[in-house]
Amino acid sequence: MTQILSPVSSLRGIVSLPADKSISHRSAMLSALSDGTCRIHNYPQSADPQSTLNVLRGLGVSMHRDDDDVLVIEGVGIDGLRPPDAPLDCGNSGTTMRLMSGILAGQPFGSVLTGDDSLQQRPMKRVADPMKAMGGRVILVEGHAPIRLRPSRDGLSAIKYRLPMASAQVKSCVLLAGLYADGRTTVVEPTRCRDHTERMLGLETHEVGGVREIYVDGGHRIDPRTWTVPGDFSGAAFFMVAATITPDSAIRFKNVGLNPSRTALIDVLIDMGADIRVENERAEGSEPIGDVRVTSAPLEGVEIGGRVIPNLIDEIPVLAVAAACAEGQTVIRDAEELRVKETDRLHAITENLRAMGAQIEERPDGLVIDGNGPNLLGTTVDSFDDHRIAMAMGVAACVAHGETQIQGAETARVSFPGFWDELDRVTTPR
Ligand code: S3P
Repeated sequence: MTQILSPVSSLRGIVSLPADKSISHRSAMLSALSDGTCRIHNYPQSADPQSTLNVLRGLGVSMHRDDDDVLVIEGVGIDGLRPPDAPLDCGNSGTTMRLMSGILAGQPFGSVLTGDDSLQQRPMKRVADPMKAMGGRVILVEGHAPIRLRPSRDGLSAIKYRLPMASAQVKSCVLLAGLYADGRTTVVEPTRCRDHTERMLGLETHEVGGVREIYVDGGHRIDPRTWTVPGDFSGAAFFMVAATITPDSAIRFKNVGLNPSRTALIDVLIDMGADIRVENERAEGSEPIGDVRVTSAPLEGVEIGGRVIPNLIDEIPVLAVAAACAEGQTVIRDAEELRVKETDRLHAITENLRAMGAQIEERPDGLVIDGNGPNLLGTTVDSFDDHRIAMAMGVAACVAHGETQIQGAETARVSFPGFWDELDRVTTPR
């Protein structure tokens, strides 16, 4: 599908967000492994969280939506999953594949995890290595999915694992496998990344000199409970940037997830000059949430790198759009992980923003963008089959001169099914 967008004069109103993708996946998996019936409010229709439900169904987990649209999952306990009778299809979802690898490595039956073309090109050795170190039997195809898991010979053993990269998916894979290990598994996290798994499992953590350790005991049981998934900060990010760079805009979000391991975009945009206010901060279960107001403001370039990067990794495509519309240079370093997302995002952003007239240089680990104020030009760009690239280009289109055509725009459904309608609803044509 090609989305054709004209420039807009403003964004106004309350933006409605899908539920957080990362928390959705985890709420479904932990519900399935719990010792009873769990209820999940606000479980999204987005393609990736639906892939997790399909995989869990393939493992014998029953679920239904009740009359109030609450997802009810019948937990089977950590030892209650059933052998699948077909490969388990994770679609486009790296989180489904990597977290389920941890759960399946500990099962007394074999299974196969597969996915779409993009997912079959993403690195899986990063989860296979710690699983093998625990005694799991994991077979990849040249480092990629399909992932074949065989029952381990003597069960999994607890390990102490230092994360070689700041990846919450790898961390979560090891922690979930730790439920099945003999003893206490420790994950050492030199650079902090999103911490939903340890919060939602209620795990013990300990921090010394900026290095965090997370502990999980084999046999840890999961009590049945009710979850409410907050609004997706990563989905809000597109509208935060759109409202900042489009004059005369004022938008709000309610009940958006504000976990500090996810919200570095707010700090960076404020550093650039943005007018973003967080209000009504509170807790929803184990996660901080709140309301956010964004009013348009002129931006200046910024330099970012190091420890902040994992806390805005999914927001860098849209941050690059903000940088292109700022005055002065923006430098993004230490973001080489973007090369192994749903597409090579450093390459995709560079191609698209350059086609729109931006001064942008692609570096091995980041981008250098010479902002030129609101001077992007509408043209034809491509989503590279990546939801965040498609939506970032939708934001650029709001302020571009002339019409922008985004090819493959339907991929937004991976995390934000109503994105194009919501963008249309809150914008006024120029
Ligand atoms: C996610 C972790 C991040 C992020 C992805 C979701 C998660 O990936 O980019 O969108 O839910 O754990 P990595 O673990 O590869 O950093």
